[in-house]
Amino acid sequence: MFKRLLPVILTTSCMGMGTNGTQLPAAPTLLPTPIVMGCPQPTQAVNLTTQPKVVEVDLTAAPAQHEWLAGKPTEVWAYNGEVPGPTLRAKVGDTLRVHFHNQLPETTSVHWHGLRVPLAMDGMASEVAPGQSFTFEFKLLDVGTFWYHPHTNTAVQVDRGLYGAIVVEDDQPPVLGQVADEVLVLDDVLVQANSGMMDTTAHDMRMDVMGSEGNVLLVNGAQATREIAVKAGEPRLWRLVNAANSRYFSLQLDGGTMIRVGGDRGWLTAPETVQTLLLVPGERAEVLVTAGATTTTLRVLPFERMMGAGSSGGADLVRLQPSLGTAATPPLPDTLRPFTPPGASILTRDVVFDETMNGMHDMTSMMSQGGMGNMGGTNGMMMQFTINGASYPNVPVLHAHLGSVETWNVRNDSVMAHPLHLHGFAFAVHGQSEWKDTVNIPAGQTVQLDVLFDDRQAARGMWMYHCHILEHADGGMIGMVDVE
Ligand code: C2O
Ligand code: CU
Ligand code: CU
Repeated sequence: MFKRLLPVILTTSCMGMGTNGTQLPAAPTLLPTPIVMGCPQPTQAVNLTTQPKVVEVDLTAAPAQHEWLAGKPTEVWAYNGEVPGPTLRAKVGDTLRVHFHNQLPETTSVHWHGLRVPLAMDGMASEVAPGQSFTFEFKLLDVGTFWYHPHTNTAVQVDRGLYGAIVVEDDQPPVLGQVADEVLVLDDVLVQANSGMMDTTAHDMRMDVMGSEGNVLLVNGAQATREIAVKAGEPRLWRLVNAANSRYFSLQLDGGTMIRVGGDRGWLTAPETVQTLLLVPGERAEVLVTAGATTTTLRVLPFERMMGAGSSGGADLVRLQPSLGTAATPPLPDTLRPFTPPGASILTRDVVFDETMNGMHDMTSMMSQGGMGNMGGTNGMMMQFTINGASYPNVPVLHAHLGSVETWNVRNDSVMAHPLHLHGFAFAVHGQSEWKDTVNIPAGQTVQLDVLFDDRQAARGMWMYHCHILEHADGGMIGMVDVE
């Protein structure tokens, strides 16, 4: 019922270490990015019921044709035939009912990333065999931008195109005056430039260590750069979702203004003008972007997740061309939503992320000893990602109480960054006024979280937390918290 432990076996043939032993193979080089007009939105799922306060949709996972590269259709796995899958849009307090059908050749599941659903609806407890169906039903408790994706053979299934956005609208949203409310699901995929097919043959040590990275950057399933004609001064609300297996989207806006108004769980307490924004796998942000008098560009910059191993070059994701004239920028409210701080914490615990290779802890010294090059052979090497010293399913189970607040000191003893994600509940980075479910834990650092195990119905039982680099999770970086 849970993800399989997939220990990574490295052999000498896929090493590619530099002579000083400290270099991983380089990240894939990005293919040249064509400019495509407009920023098509994922289809919005059709509501099948007229029942008030219910959104009822059909969702089918199946092989489909899709163009990662324009003009080069290829087989992917998709929800309702599209990548991203349909956007599920509803109002807070609505009930979402999803009739899910699995037409994939393998078992899958649907996880509602960030939603506080009953445990039985989290996806973990309900794998769906090929040809089978399952109806999910739960109430939408939180405003914000969320997403759904499989939690079975996760790295492979998500990479092939199974993901979609969920927008839970406020019934009384702050007045932002924006003209568009758009979903921008960010992803990358590794394809063969000539065929446009996913490149599943490329396998090197970098992938085992860093997670898979693509050579094509995607906005809503299509290769960037998207170009949109706009009025200068007119804000658009963009709901950004990082659906990539491992890529950190280090975003920067050139020209114009970008104001962050929401995070993982909807509105911030106050608007926050930013020029850069780091979105780690699984994380969301809601931003108001306003073009200036000249081209305004949202670009992704290379980001180093581990020493000596940055992602390949940057690219422009979206360009706003102020070719439609000028509009007055409406004023923003000073506050968007109050934040109720978590109550007093009843206990403090350490959650330690690490990785080992054949029992050795420190990759830097392993590499500088030339360790990797000397190993392998027929025995290969075992890369293991650990939490509190063990890999899933052997990570010691945490025990928490419904209705309590805990302090988690999440320490990253490894030499690369890991994004922590917790199912079913929310946390605030200590001292910050923002609820989150996914947060970056930089290498060598500790991030203190106030975790709120909110007392709600059907929330007792075993919940998962894990690294959202999907290859790391599949490689054992998953722990369970038993909430009673
Ligand atoms: Cu986005 Cu456990 O998942
Ligand atoms: Cu999740
Ligand atoms: Cu990780």
